[in-house]
Amino acid sequence: MTAHYHILGAKQFNRTELEELFDSAARMEDRETWNTDPRFAGKIMTTLFFESSTRTRLSFESAMSRLGGKVIGTENAAQFSSTIKGETLEDTIRIVSGYSDIIVLRHTDIGAAERAAKVADVPIINAGDGAGEHPTQALLDLYSIRKECGRIDGLTIAMIGDLTYGRTVHSLSYMLANFQNIKLLFVSPENVGIPSYVKHYLEEQGVAYSETENFEDALQSAEVLYQTRIQKERFPSIEEYRKAEGRYIINRDILSRMRKDSIILHPLPRAGEIAPEVDEDPRAAYFRQAQNGLYIRMALVEKCLTF
Ligand code: CP
Repeated sequence: MTAHYHILGAKQFNRTELEELFDSAARMEDRETWNTDPRFAGKIMTTLFFESSTRTRLSFESAMSRLGGKVIGTENAAQFSSTIKGETLEDTIRIVSGYSDIIVLRHTDIGAAERAAKVADVPIINAGDGAGEHPTQALLDLYSIRKECGRIDGLTIAMIGDLTYGRTVHSLSYMLANFQNIKLLFVSPENVGIPSYVKHYLEEQGVAYSETENFEDALQSAEVLYQTRIQKERFPSIEEYRKAEGRYIINRDILSRMRKDSIILHPLPRAGEIAPEVDEDPRAAYFRQAQNGLYIRMALVEKCLTF
């Protein structure tokens, strides 16, 4: 099988690769270049989504279209692919490899993208594997931080909410280890703290972090508040979910006590943890962040298809 450039997890990126990718994404913001690159004419992307998505699937599909390629796929692969007849993920990937030039996969199982990459004859992009990782979200998060704050080195970043099941937090933590003098503040209810395997990685990489249940600790210290949804669908019981829900809500009162030079990010969708009254504040960067997903994913598709 040919060697391919897969996007499987956040740890695969070093700082040089990240900077190159951000430069490519900045280039992709120039609309004059859209649909003009002959390298992508006739190329086909398959999007295979076994879990729901708005941003990731549609921004990948838009990215491929903006580059001049085509998209096939299914938004509900669990129901509308032959998985429902018992076909394995490996067989599905082998088959789809023959129909397309790149596969974007969102799956319920941790490690699904690695399994897919072992049998694929095209690049695989991990668009989220259960409670595991979401590396392309972390890339657009970092790109957003760089654009909004003008730098990544030296920042204090508070990650708030469901840090156990929130895969974007895992990938973003891993990726931030590439930068200098980062401080991470993990703010969560006790039953959804940051996993020990993420903490071990940060310790190995010499990244400073602390954990708290107190939201107030973040308000004056963090330049970036990375708010997340409590992932109701991943809890073992409704009782455990109830212990975690509704603890940290960013509203007008919180805004008044946040640093003036800070920003609010959220991978979205939100489910009440950022009040709509916050949206008009210039520090609310989450819709700009979602737009950045298009540019980062155009850059990623370019990288995978021209490797
Ligand atoms: N942030 C994110 O992954 O959103 P979707 O679930 O809508 O793709």
